Amino acid sequence: MMKKIAIFASGSGSNFKAIHKNVELGNICAKIKLLVSNNSNSGAVEYATENNIETFIINKARFSDMIKGENLLLKKLVFNQIDLICLAGYMKLLSRKIVEKYDNCILNIHPALLPKFGGKGFYGMKVHEAVLESGVEESGATVHLVNENYDEGQIIAQKKIMINSNYTPEILSKKVLQIEHELYSKVIKEFCENKLI
Ligand code: GRF
Repeated sequence: MMKKIAIFASGSGSNFKAIHKNVELGNICAKIKLLVSNNSNSGAVEYATENNIETFIINKARFSDMIKGENLLLKKLVFNQIDLICLAGYMKLLSRKIVEKYDNCILNIHPALLPKFGGKGFYGMKVHEAVLESGVEESGATVHLVNENYDEGQIIAQKKIMINSNYTPEILSKKVLQIEHELYSKVIKEFCENKLI
């Protein structure tokens, strides 16, 4: 059976786009059924709309009662028979109900080599700044399973890059993003072929 995926993204959505391209090319045997975002002005939402992928916006502007919003989202995921949730730059914590329902079926990508440089406060450029400040020689990307504490679930795959002495946080973020696209699609492909768990 072809797996059904929901992508959660808040930002530009370059990981989402890379995954979608690999689905379109037949490299990942799956269907992206839903794009969930807290940011209706994001590149991710724009891309989903252009590509006829259904979107679900969850934020306080749409739901004065966020519990209701979260319950509706869970219903939407179940209705669409979602098998896999991929967090791709999603800036909100998932509700406990979703994490429990999709145990072992939620992946996240982080732009550093976990368990270092992860957890609260390590997002966006802050991650790359901290990596460079620490003086480590390599960084990279990590795909991990999601549990209730951010960046703490089981590590599934990592890919490393060497850090050059002239790297700025911006350069490092671009280099890491390139390998994120490759690594995330590789892991999702394995999940969809039941080779992961
Ligand atoms: C990526 O660096 C990812 O590792 C992190 O958020 C960023 C999302 O980038 N979780 P994009 O929106 O996929 O371009």
